Amino acid sequence: MDKIPVAVLGATGLVGQRFIEILSKHPWFEVEYVAASERSAGLKYADVVNWVLSNEIPGSVANLVVGSVYDVPDDIEIVFSALPSSIAELVEVSLARRGFTVVSNASPLRMEPDIPLLNPEVNHDHINLLKVQRRRRAWKGYILKNPNCTTVILTLSLAPIFNEYGIEQLMVTTMQAISGAGLRGVPAYLITDNIIPYIEKEEVKVMTETRKILGKLSERGKVEPLSLPIAVTTTRVPVLDGHMEVVYIKTSNEAEPSEIMDILENFKSLPQELKLPTAPSKPVIVRKEKDRPQPRLDRLAGNGMSVTVGRVEKMEELGDRWIQYVVLGHNTIRGAAGTAVLIAELYTKTMGLSH
Ligand SMILES: NC(=O)c1ccc[n+]([C@@H]2O[C@H](COP(=O)([O-])OP(=O)(O)OC[C@H]3O[C@@H](n4cnc5c(N)ncnc54)[C@H](OP(=O)(O)O)[C@@H]3O)[C@@H](O)[C@H]2O)c1
Repeated sequence: MDKIPVAVLGATGLVGQRFIEILSKHPWFEVEYVAASERSAGLKYADVVNWVLSNEIPGSVANLVVGSVYDVPDDIEIVFSALPSSIAELVEVSLARRGFTVVSNASPLRMEPDIPLLNPEVNHDHINLLKVQRRRRAWKGYILKNPNCTTVILTLSLAPIFNEYGIEQLMVTTMQAISGAGLRGVPAYLITDNIIPYIEKEEVKVMTETRKILGKLSERGKVEPLSLPIAVTTTRVPVLDGHMEVVYIKTSNEAEPSEIMDILENFKSLPQELKLPTAPSKPVIVRKEKDRPQPRLDRLAGNGMSVTVGRVEKMEELGDRWIQYVVLGHNTIRGAAGTAVLIAELYTKTMGLSH
């Protein structure tokens, strides 16, 4: 069967490069168009990209000429967006109006009630919001969003616990990699030998997006956000890739750490059942060593698509139902490009094209 032609917008950035890497080996999708800013447009991809990944630039993309985000050719089926949030909404809406299916990493529109915000193992059923989107907006295409990188990693580790025991309260402190801020994001002088205890707008995103993702889709086609008190502190640390998060949960029903580890370790969902190409066989990997997970050792678990959980312990001083753990995931793979590709696979298999 012919591959589905796809485009990558923001293809020269950190998330864009991950898209190119993942899609170059993809069994269903073929990158036929790349776009970036005016600065790069008209030049050969290999000549303009500041390639930072350890694999070579895939030959199939190296010679493509970088185009404008406004000139996506009509024969493209799926557009992956890794655009800055400042321009993403304008571009993505105009593409959806023209009939493209847009899968986007950028934050605008994530909280719109008819835009699915998907972490496929956690809330694949929310893809049905596309029917509401089609009714409400006069678009010929669709927009689907993947969550903020921190939220993808967090909700993948929360979902199995939430499904089994319920969650009453949640506290999270993050240690986020430099790559989370993009290629030109954090100056070396500010982050080397340092920790910055603030990431703009990040904490609100983690709270609101987590509640939407764990919310229930009603028969009326509305997601009721989960009513869950969440306290979040996000920090930037001098790690290249891999966000670590320390999580404290008060469960609704008491659970032993061994039971929680068991549930996390055995968690599987629709992407695994459908054998989607980018779905990791184990979405959550549990490490029993006291000093794991670590970014350098664990960020590429499951080709960067699994999250790794360790230090699952009871917090007896706070009460019987408090549990603590540490979770780590790759922010530009599981937290961005990889999850967007998984969303496109879910869409292709369940809603859209005939693959
Ligand atoms: N990094 C992460 O871990 C992560 C995780 C989740 C979500 N995200 C989101 O994903 C998006 C991309 O992030 P990133 O880290 O890849 O950023 P980045 O490294 O700064 O890359 C930005 C990309 O957008 C292009 N661009 C910039 N201004 C443009 C314009 N006016 N018109 C068209 N293209 C333009 C750049 O092209 P040039 O090279 O030509 O300037 C580059 O390709 C952001 O919305 C970010 O919030 C990032």
